[in-house]
Amino acid sequence: MAHAQNDLLATDIEAYLEQHEHKSMLRFITCGSVDDGKSTLIGRLLYDSKLVFEDHLAALESDSKKVGTQGGELDFALLVDGLAAEREQGITIDVAYRFFSTERRKFIVADTPGHEQYTRNMVTGASTAEVAVILIDARKGVLTQTRRHSYLVSLLGIRHVLLAINKLDLVDYSEEVFHRIEAEYRAFAAEIGLEHIVCVPLSALKGDNVTELSPNTPWYDGPTLIGYLETVEVERDLDEKPFRMPVQWVNRPDLDFRGFSGEVVGGTVHPGDRVRILPSGRESDVTRIVTADGDLDEAVTGQSVTICLADEVDVSRGDVLAAAQSPAGVADQFEAHIVWMAEEEMLPGRPYLLKLGTRTVTATVAQPKYKVNVNTLEHTAARTLELNEIGVCNISLDRPVPFDAYVDNRDMGGFILIDRFTNATVAAGLLHFALRRADNVHWQALEVDKGARAALNGQRPALLWFTGLSGAGKSTIANIVEQKLHEQGRHTYLLDGDNVRHGLNKDLGFTDADRVENIRRVAEVAKLMVDAGLIVLASFISPFRSERRMARDLLDDGEFVEVFVDSGLDVAESRDRKGLYAKARRGELVNFTGIDSPYEEPEHPEIHLDASGSVSAEDAADQVIEHLRQAGFIAPLAGDI
Ligand code: ADX
Repeated sequence: MAHAQNDLLATDIEAYLEQHEHKSMLRFITCGSVDDGKSTLIGRLLYDSKLVFEDHLAALESDSKKVGTQGGELDFALLVDGLAAEREQGITIDVAYRFFSTERRKFIVADTPGHEQYTRNMVTGASTAEVAVILIDARKGVLTQTRRHSYLVSLLGIRHVLLAINKLDLVDYSEEVFHRIEAEYRAFAAEIGLEHIVCVPLSALKGDNVTELSPNTPWYDGPTLIGYLETVEVERDLDEKPFRMPVQWVNRPDLDFRGFSGEVVGGTVHPGDRVRILPSGRESDVTRIVTADGDLDEAVTGQSVTICLADEVDVSRGDVLAAAQSPAGVADQFEAHIVWMAEEEMLPGRPYLLKLGTRTVTATVAQPKYKVNVNTLEHTAARTLELNEIGVCNISLDRPVPFDAYVDNRDMGGFILIDRFTNATVAAGLLHFALRRADNVHWQALEVDKGARAALNGQRPALLWFTGLSGAGKSTIANIVEQKLHEQGRHTYLLDGDNVRHGLNKDLGFTDADRVENIRRVAEVAKLMVDAGLIVLASFISPFRSERRMARDLLDDGEFVEVFVDSGLDVAESRDRKGLYAKARRGELVNFTGIDSPYEEPEHPEIHLDASGSVSAEDAADQVIEHLRQAGFIAPLAGDI
């Protein structure tokens, strides 16, 4: 097989390339630990398909002699684990994508380590795979890690599983062992909804049933590993789904041409097809499917094309073109599986960026309904998710997005969460369904609005957000500002951290998650008060930029005034009126801001107050009043003019 391919390569390069180009591509993932022989297996596939480059081969031979575990014979694991250096570490980390090809198909294999702490790598590798090869050591049978891999494979929507029962040479090619493991695995797989399973008896090391059926297993009449990978049918699954194309960009080189470019992520599309544009819901007909190589009569899943429509409809990046008869849903609240991938825990209530297809929106995740123990599949209660944990949570977006359930379309239902400040990907998510409550709760338009209420008060409503360390002087200054405003006849309200924590927020402590929730509630309350036409003062440590930004984003432009009460840690600690710093230093109070919990200083506060002691609280308050006057929140007093 591989030889014929190489002969063609030698004699007729054109024909070879032509053949190569039209082969289909299969993406698969291998799951198993180093001990199961996974690296050996992949190395064997690469070697047998003869696409290992010659210089790699030379290095492999010399490395095998030096460090190989096979007594001078070729050690295929070396091919995969990288040569000597990485091998010394004993495990492969991160996802490695490898390309190889046979006469019938091209392959991309995602190789991920099997250890539990690498769930995120496996999720990354599996999210684009169509087939999973799950390795089992025949001597050990179905292990906890086999169940974990299978659960993730099923969760991530991989429909086809090849169970490679490996190292069969070490159990004398026993048919009985093979069938026992197969039966046990099939029973488990049925429980988690894996349907298409093929079990192959294997010795990756000796090459049994890898590319050719082995004389050592005369009782086996299924496919070889390569035979299976070459023939397993996956394309149809995707093409039979309804048409979907998230718009990557609007292609408008001149006034005569307007097309929408993107990758087809489900179904097929033809000129004349009726499509619906989501989320707007407008419909039109496809007139042309344009590519660099000319127009097409059909575009299938996986192809990148530009689609022209019959009508001048409004379409922008992030919209989805969908089959009009079976369009995708549109919603802004969902239940989803979340796989947490960041070192820092998930913070329910914190706004993250959510990227779904070509669209990015802001999303908050509620406290998990439960998390899943990936080893036992048990559900347990959880307040948050930590690195590599998987949970089911409700999420809510700041605007509606087109979507399909992940089980129906991975591209339309799979998303990632991104930290707004570091830009790091913190989670992967799989949408289940839209929450109905979103459909049934509507915004009620009220006759008396914010402007009317504020006019009656003779002021422009605002939220003055005082942030700073405990003891910086926030409450002291906010208190004086409120007095001054009150004397001027302004309508105000002061929300103070310590006070709110006696009532509305008395269920919250000082973990990161609780502080996020504290500020989320306070910001929502402050928003209502601003809507009531008040000048609201909020005095909270509010140590995280994300939540101060959330409060800002809840209000209309210009209404949020961030006041950084900046004393520096030393001054705040030396004041220590409540004796809390001393307690924290003694270790009697944990998570204390400035000591063992972070304070993220504002980068661009509207007002930056020097609270180190060189300016009096009275003068600091006057600075705030002056800002309000200059920014037009309050009119100058008669005496000032
Ligand atoms: S925030 O971080 O969630 O914004 P908030 O302003 O509501 O905090 O409450 C801070 C007040 O709680 C402090 O002024 C202090 O009196 C008290 N407190 C008690 N424990 C802590 C702690 N671990 N960290 C900070 N403040 C604490």
